[in-house]
Amino acid sequence: MTAKIITVFNQKGGCGKTMSTMQLSGFYGSRGLKVFVIDMDLQGTSSLWSLQAESEAPFPATVLSMAALSDGFVNKLAPIVEKHDVVLIDCPPAIESRVPWASLLISDLGLIPVVPVMDNIWASKKAEELILEAKAKHRPDLKGAYVLNMVRRGNIFDTCLEQLSNKKLIPILNTHMGMRNVFPESQLFGTFAEGFGTSAGAKEIEKLGLEVAALVGLFVPKKTKGAK
Ligand SMILES: Nc1ncnc2c1ncn2[C@@H]1O[C@H](COP(=O)(O)OP(=O)(O)OP(=O)(O)O)[C@@H](O)[C@H]1O
Ligand SMILES: [Mg+2]
Repeated sequence: MTAKIITVFNQKGGCGKTMSTMQLSGFYGSRGLKVFVIDMDLQGTSSLWSLQAESEAPFPATVLSMAALSDGFVNKLAPIVEKHDVVLIDCPPAIESRVPWASLLISDLGLIPVVPVMDNIWASKKAEELILEAKAKHRPDLKGAYVLNMVRRGNIFDTCLEQLSNKKLIPILNTHMGMRNVFPESQLFGTFAEGFGTSAGAKEIEKLGLEVAALVGLFVPKKTKGAK
């Protein structure tokens, strides 16, 4: 087993890095994949999230904080990568920290969550540049993608989306995450969207999970009968 590695990062705080990390890892884990989340943010949000789960229904991925190690965390990854199908790295909202760069250099995909409003689009430029630099200098096979988060209807969102599509050098995933109550609710109970059964949010995460998996060549088993 050699895990696919996904770095989830952006300069912008609150754009959905932890949300994307935890929803995707919950989805992959629920499909029987061995998933490891590395929490690189000293806020520890993904670690706290997984700790909310009841012991009889644990979060379906291992979550470990390595934030104190800063970029040295990459030296600890070999045994984890060997024993898992997918590793997601939840980065802090600081592009100038050494963490996103070190993380991209060992990754298959750099995923940039972005809310379709102008401040997020401006801030994401640095993240895009980091992927392009890592790809050009060290990791030619590295992929990059934007995932739109907290998408709502309205002209302002449409205009921002248009700007993002026109100016960006890396693709925007087809699947968006809407503004949905089920996402923050899953935090509260240490689960992910599908933990509450079928919903529009759960369907989005399934679609997103499959789209990201296809991008990195990760095989996701079909949902087993009787599973939620
Ligand atoms: N699609 C969504 N629908 C509803 N709420 C969301 C959605 N995405 C994120 N949120 C909420 O927005 C807030 C910020 O999300 P999140 O913590 O994932 O961002 P972040 O980029 O990890 O932030 P930070 O930079 O602080 O690490 C959280 O309270 C989260 O619950
Ligand atoms: Mg976060």
